[in-house]
Amino acid sequence: MSDTKGSPPQNLSRRSLLKAGLAAGAVAGSAGAAKAAGDPLITEVQDWNRYLGDGVQARPYGTPSEFESHVVRRDVEWLTASTESSVNFTPLHELDGIITPNGLCFERHHGGISEINPADHRLMINGLVDTPLVFTMEDLKRFPRENRVYFLECAANSGMEWRGSQLNGCQYTHGMVHCVMYTGVPLKLILEEAGIKTNAKWVMPEGADASAMTRSIPMEKALDDCLIAFKMNGEALRPEQGYPLRLVVPGWEGNMWVKWLRRIEVGDEPWHQREETSKYTDLLASGKARRFTWVMDAKSVITSPSPQAPVTHGKGPMVISGVAWSGNGRITRVDVSIDGGRNWKTARIDGPSLPKALHRFYLDIDWDGSDLLIQSRAMDENGYFQPTKNELRAARGENSIYHNNGIQTWYVKADGTVENVEVS
Ligand code: MTE
Ligand code: CO
Repeated sequence: MSDTKGSPPQNLSRRSLLKAGLAAGAVAGSAGAAKAAGDPLITEVQDWNRYLGDGVQARPYGTPSEFESHVVRRDVEWLTASTESSVNFTPLHELDGIITPNGLCFERHHGGISEINPADHRLMINGLVDTPLVFTMEDLKRFPRENRVYFLECAANSGMEWRGSQLNGCQYTHGMVHCVMYTGVPLKLILEEAGIKTNAKWVMPEGADASAMTRSIPMEKALDDCLIAFKMNGEALRPEQGYPLRLVVPGWEGNMWVKWLRRIEVGDEPWHQREETSKYTDLLASGKARRFTWVMDAKSVITSPSPQAPVTHGKGPMVISGVAWSGNGRITRVDVSIDGGRNWKTARIDGPSLPKALHRFYLDIDWDGSDLLIQSRAMDENGYFQPTKNELRAARGENSIYHNNGIQTWYVKADGTVENVEVS
């Protein structure tokens, strides 16, 4: 960009810099700053500083800078047989703070993305209710609504890492999680509107997509903090996230957050659907399976440095950053180790600390340029500590895919490259 167009103002600006005493010697001391003194990016007027830019309305719906085009969701082609029943991953290694931008929230579909005109969308409540009801989107938007920030984690997040380190990037190992602010109507209000019978103990949300996703949810949870959401981060849900309506089941596995929500059946027992029998159950070493493992336990991961975010700046100040979350409430502490779990330091949690939402943590270190084995472990408000992978395997065997919240290790090498390894 800097080697284009003419150069009339360059001498002038260089002279004024010299006059101001800002050239060479004045900034000696730091390699970066000394170089900057002769840097054409400092001494020459750049195009973006010389020509008018696009006016308003050139970008009626804004998109990120072209220089951020590498920050995208990515999939792993060999993981699934088709893209319609598949997953892609949030680029966690490029993000900061606790909110995931809408266009970067990972996608998990079992039958592709339904494209639904909200005018044609209906939500039905039936089963053990006094009055079966059908709502239009307009009807739903007349109920009192709430705004709440929650993470959504697929139960299969990190599933490929059960038996050992496998996928080389935080995006791939941990990117089936996102965190946005939802706007929606408490499910409780909709159930009250229909009136639930005294023997009603469970609800079953159903999707309008080709997979017609269904799960059984106990009534206590339905009446507690579930939302019927139509907005994320202030704007309408994206089609990938269930536009125009999705169920939000805070802290519980992503599979229950039915997208394109079209029906809620009320019953007196669980339905034993595919997604809670053959899938989303954990086969233990004994041959028995754990089921109804709804809550996503406390977990954390260092997002940078990580394999896709190597260290490029050499020795000296280094920001280690990551995210932590718990389906049981707030994160109260995150520890970081740079020596494979021998010694731990308490990281700094920065930004809002909201229950069942991502938390952002930092450990600011002075890197001596030697190899590091970096790990993070989260603790939630119930005193639960994120386990090591060995502890997890001791409890659940090696058959599992779901609910891997074990401690992740990244091997930072002296040259700054980073690799996914396991130290348990
Ligand atoms: N709802 C419907 N209708 N169809 C689906 O395929 N996938 C589920 C859940 N809800 C799914 C669904 C799974 S397994 C997960 S992890 C989350 O949606 C993913 O939500 P996201 O695509 O917004 O990240
Ligand atoms: Co899932």
